[in-house]
Amino acid sequence: MSIAYLNGTFLPLEDACVPVMDRGFLFGDGVYEVIPVYAGKLFRLAHHLKRLRNSLEAVHIEHPLSDDDWETMLNELVSRNKEPDQAIYLQVTRGVAEKRDHAFPPDCKPTLFAMSTPMAPSADIDSITGTKAITLPDIRWKLCNIKAITLLPNVVLRQQAIDADAAEAILIKDGYAVEGAASNVFIVKNGLLITPPNGPTLLPGITRDLVIELAANHAIPFREADITEADLFSADEIWLTSSTREISPVTLLDDTVISAGKPGPLWKQMISLYQDCKTAIRRGETG
Ligand code: PDD
Repeated sequence: MSIAYLNGTFLPLEDACVPVMDRGFLFGDGVYEVIPVYAGKLFRLAHHLKRLRNSLEAVHIEHPLSDDDWETMLNELVSRNKEPDQAIYLQVTRGVAEKRDHAFPPDCKPTLFAMSTPMAPSADIDSITGTKAITLPDIRWKLCNIKAITLLPNVVLRQQAIDADAAEAILIKDGYAVEGAASNVFIVKNGLLITPPNGPTLLPGITRDLVIELAANHAIPFREADITEADLFSADEIWLTSSTREISPVTLLDDTVISAGKPGPLWKQMISLYQDCKTAIRRGETG
């Protein structure tokens, strides 16, 4: 049975309920994080908490817990759920209001919720064959750097990808590839690794930042630069990154075969560096 956390209490997930007047339910008025756990250890927790703070500040929700209190609560949640590898979902909404009013209610206490989902071990590198992605116009709002729970466009876009037998939609805004519906995008061109710079058009992904860190530490040529739609289709490699999908190679984009239809050499190098980071955290060597 999966154990969740709601407003200070640990309880079975199926017993966790929030009032219908919660602004998360009525307005999608809240923010969230998804944090991977390997061998019972939260991966890159400090980075996730920093992004959570940025999201909370951007939408003017008060910080409900200190970083230390988040850490204590999340570690408790992880240990109450038995699987060694988990994905922790946490969300903070503005809270429960007396009446439905778009304006922020004056004395609202944020609702805190967190749950754990078991995470399957990642596949053997040599068995990964690559996925299909499709390109779609970016129909989202102008503050995509906020990790808001208001995900209706992302949900619709991801479903369009699924309906086209693809794993993800890569979103095109003003002629540029910005990110996936729930992932960041990288391309490799002539040995250079490229991802769009952080800004309001995309989420500052924690996996994205780790990939950049690994590129810097291992002398992999790297640049943060805009990716035109033409660059995307003529890329030698395309990767999509997220906490749950790690680094996923795209080998078919719409009807265009990428990287001769198989994961490319730089992806192989990067995914093994990424797996080394997971091994280090499993051994308790890093956070
Ligand atoms: N989504 N961009 C978007 C729009 C995302 O929703 C996500 C992750 C990412 C990658 O961020 P990170 O590397 O920090 O996971 C980029 C999560 C996994 C989700 O919504 O479930």
